[in-house]
Amino acid sequence: ENNQYIMGIETSCDETAVAIVKNGREIIANVVASQIESHKRFGGVVPEIASRHHVEQMTLVIEEAIKQAEMDFSQIDAIAVTEGPGLVGALLIGVNAAKALAFAHNIPLIGVHHIAGHIYANRLVTEMKFPLLSLVVSGGHTELVYMKEHGHFEVIGETRDDAAGEAYDKVARTLNLPYPGGPHIDRLAHEGTPNINLPRAWLEEGSYDFSFSGLKSAVINAVHNAEQRGEVIAPEDLAASFQESVIEVLTKKTLLAVKEYEVKQVLLAGGVAANKGLRTTLEQVFNELEDVELVIPPLSLCTDNAAMIAAAGSILFEKGIKSSMALNANPGLDI
Ligand code: KG4
Ligand code: ZN
Repeated sequence: ENNQYIMGIETSCDETAVAIVKNGREIIANVVASQIESHKRFGGVVPEIASRHHVEQMTLVIEEAIKQAEMDFSQIDAIAVTEGPGLVGALLIGVNAAKALAFAHNIPLIGVHHIAGHIYANRLVTEMKFPLLSLVVSGGHTELVYMKEHGHFEVIGETRDDAAGEAYDKVARTLNLPYPGGPHIDRLAHEGTPNINLPRAWLEEGSYDFSFSGLKSAVINAVHNAEQRGEVIAPEDLAASFQESVIEVLTKKTLLAVKEYEVKQVLLAGGVAANKGLRTTLEQVFNELEDVELVIPPLSLCTDNAAMIAAAGSILFEKGIKSSMALNANPGLDI
């Protein structure tokens, strides 16, 4: 049989995930154990709690994926695992599980960058056409990545402070909404009017970098100033105004980069890609552009999962790129 089967393992933050992907494109198994319930009452991910959950869940999730695929390890060609960036204790659980599996079954081990994974989630829904641009927006990252071929990543812009998802979560906290706040703000935004004046961080002319901390502070100040005047700002209007600012900056910078780099595709990636406002705006804008295709994966592939890690690992496997048994978690790994 000439088919290629890669097992992916992802534990960089608060999901313990294992998947099996056939020929880099087809999901055979995809298991995600979310820990959100355990972190909710702390208003964010608590690293120590995340690590403990990964330890408890890791082997169960691996078994579940093997069961779902109705396969055994003799059929797996390689183990791909997120080596970074992420929480070091969380990453270590996945990396060590992957090393143990690779060693025990004598199959190659492949370290994968988490952001490469998010981008390759798109390969599970369509063929990638180069050159392309990916807008990666998650809880930990906001990046514009240019790719001229498989495995080649050039970060042309990134956030200088908060990630887009982080800003969503912090604004949600100010409005007393539960963690993770992104979906709540998204829902509220659709009920409100963007009538509050909030900043847009364009930065220097021609820069593809982002900044969301000023916007976040402006929201917090608006709430506090209103409180001191004994007034209340309608949370839905604040959510709508905040969301409008985020989407406007993300969309305009992406469009500028699309023109400068003359790309054939734009791939949306990361948890914030679940945002309805962002999806709709991008769809409208790209509908009018003839030579550029916009790809937005389904929500389950936008948030952290292991199928995306297996998909990214598949390309490395094809290129003969493997990791040694000295592979270690690297919380600050560059793409
Ligand atoms: O990619 P992801 O699952 O984890 C990281 O690698 O960070 O992204 C999680 C982030 C959280 O900040 C969450 O609030 C945000 O994605 N998010 C959203 C929405 N759904 C999830 N942000 C805005 N609108 C949404 N609908
Ligand atoms: Zn992620």
